Amino acid sequence: MKRIKAIYPGSFDPPTNGHLDLIERGSKIFDELVVAILRNPEKDPLFSVSDRRNMLEAMTSGFDNVTVETFDGLMVDYALSVGATAVLRGIRAISDYEYELQMALMNRRLAPSIETVFLMAKEEYSYVSSRLVKELTRLGGDVTGLVPNSVRQRLADRF
Ligand code: PNS
Repeated sequence: MKRIKAIYPGSFDPPTNGHLDLIERGSKIFDELVVAILRNPEKDPLFSVSDRRNMLEAMTSGFDNVTVETFDGLMVDYALSVGATAVLRGIRAISDYEYELQMALMNRRLAPSIETVFLMAKEEYSYVSSRLVKELTRLGGDVTGLVPNSVRQRLADRF
C-alpha cells in the first residue's frame, strides 16, 4: 500500500497552538509527518534552532507518526532527500494566500513530484502568529491559550 510522507516546514519561532492544530490534522491524513524547522542564519530568531526543536518535540510527543527535524537550503530538496511527496502548509486569512500560492507554484516548478497541501487551523487560531505572540509577550500581554504552556513559559523567560 502506498504510504504518504509529508513535511511541515516553517520557522516556528516560536511554535503556536495554530501550528500544533495543523500538526494534529496533518498526522491524521499522512502516514508520516516531519516537522521541518528552517535553519536560517539570515533571520534573527528569538529562539535558537535547538530551543525550537525541543519545544516542538515536547508538543508532538503524543503523535507516534510525527518527528521533528531541521533543514537548510531549498525546502523541496530537503523534502526529496527524506522521501516526502507532500508539503503541508497552513492558511489562515486570505492575506496568507498570495505568498503561499507563490511559494507552492515555485516549489512545484522546482519539484513537480511534490504536492503542497493546505489545511486550515481551527478558526480560533486564525489570527495567531509567532510574530504577534512575541510582540504580545514583549509588551506584557497574555498569550495563554495561543501557545502551549511550555512555550508561554519560555517566552516569559526571554522578555
Ligand atoms: O514559517 P514560515 O517562515 O512562513 O516558513 C517559510 C518556509 C521555511 C517554509 C520557507 O521560507 C522555505 O521553504 N524556505 C526554504 C528555502 C526555499 O525553499 N525557498 C524557496 C521557496 S519557493
